[in-house]
Amino acid sequence: MQSILYILFVNNNSIRLKRPAVCDATQIPVKSNHGPNPARANRKFDNPTDCGSLLMRFDSSIKLFDRAQRLMPGGVSSPVRAISPYPFYTAKAAGPYLWDSDGNRFIDYCLAYGPMILGHRHPAIMQAAMDQMDRGWLYGTPSELEVRMAERVSGLYPSMEMLRFVSTGTEATMAAIRVARGSTGRDKIIKIEGGFHGAHDSVLVKAGSGATTLGIPDSRGVPVDTARNTLQVPYNDLEALEKVLKSFPGQIACLIMEPVLGNIGPVLPLKGYLQAVRKLTREHDVLLIFDEVITGFRLSLGGAQELFGVKPDLTTLGKIIGGGFPVGIFGGRRDLMEQVAPSGGIYQAGTFNGSPVSLASGYATLDVMEKENVLAKLNNTGNEMRSRLIEIVDDLKLDYSVVGIASMFKIFFGPEPHNYEQALKCDKLGYLVFFRHMLNSGIFLTPSQYETDFISAAHSEDVIETTLEAFRSCLKS
Ligand SMILES: Cc1ncc(COP(=O)(O)O)c(C=O)c1O
Repeated sequence: MQSILYILFVNNNSIRLKRPAVCDATQIPVKSNHGPNPARANRKFDNPTDCGSLLMRFDSSIKLFDRAQRLMPGGVSSPVRAISPYPFYTAKAAGPYLWDSDGNRFIDYCLAYGPMILGHRHPAIMQAAMDQMDRGWLYGTPSELEVRMAERVSGLYPSMEMLRFVSTGTEATMAAIRVARGSTGRDKIIKIEGGFHGAHDSVLVKAGSGATTLGIPDSRGVPVDTARNTLQVPYNDLEALEKVLKSFPGQIACLIMEPVLGNIGPVLPLKGYLQAVRKLTREHDVLLIFDEVITGFRLSLGGAQELFGVKPDLTTLGKIIGGGFPVGIFGGRRDLMEQVAPSGGIYQAGTFNGSPVSLASGYATLDVMEKENVLAKLNNTGNEMRSRLIEIVDDLKLDYSVVGIASMFKIFFGPEPHNYEQALKCDKLGYLVFFRHMLNSGIFLTPSQYETDFISAAHSEDVIETTLEAFRSCLKS
């Protein structure tokens, strides 16, 4: 396998990449103490494909990071944002672009880790949010909007006969697991290795996303007794699942899984896997929770469950359905959801549940997606992107793989993984250096080998072409 080896030089606050060299994490400086260069500090990045020679300036971001590190753990509000050696600080966003506080412009494939499916600052979403602000933004009472939204979501997800709005995907999975435990009277759950379901105790065991990137799949502070109740099976491995199901008869409340693993890159289900998982869980009387926080409204309006034709007992949604504002939804079979308080004894509550601005923005997002047939176009762009990337990788004779589905994609620095263990074998440091090289070329990919890249409706043909040129150039250099 031909791998890309670079050294990152942080030199007078600019980043230069050079090869070949042996590269390990200790060689990448965490921060620079060099002073700013005002002459270049605010210039616009105007040649996004020239990644060999152009030096991008991050003076303002470096200064902000220095200040942030004193007050916030790792200088960030969420671990995935701690891009090495320092993150850029976004000042504004529009369409497919982010601009940082130094005036650099980036084409954004992170898209806030998935929610911004229409791109940034979409006029219809902004209008919907402002119209809602005009009517007030938090009531503490029910509103018609949540009834309409519940009807719409349930219409798109027939498996969600009843549902509840919460504020984040984390809350949604936490509540769905509680419903599974409360309704079955069992404590154990199964999760898929590398699956990420938010940052709560029951699921922070062999979790993907930032936990995988940072090498701390088991968080300190998770009680041993809690972790003990979380059983793990590899993705795409029916034998392992059956073995666990047979080993703990009558003790397992649910299997929670991302139908497509989105938090170790997109890792796809092998043919028939999801259908077989449904069959097995049913046979063993274990509830199936599809965590569609990423796949919901992206793989199809009805999520992965619609695309693959598999009906879970419970579903969690988030990200896109808030239009970029905080949201989460959990729901499922009526007999299960009727047990949620106040109609039943499984407690869940929240001051911000069903936040009107989030619901209005999510509703407007669905309007645009349906009216403009956004997913059909996005899927075409995703297919084009992946096939062109495969061409580039083949041309350059790299042993990398390009994986994805719909508008999700990733270049893996290694063969296509089918589970967590295989994903961990990718050259994650090589990816990190490549990522920084792309960033220096004006392309913001997700910073970790273990995060999915997303395409939005605002990514025009020109933007995709610019991106592909940068891919070719950065993979070649
Ligand atoms: C599949 C999945 N579930 C749950 C979550 C948690 O959602 P949130 O970050 O909104 O709490 C995430 C977050 O990335 C996710 O990817």
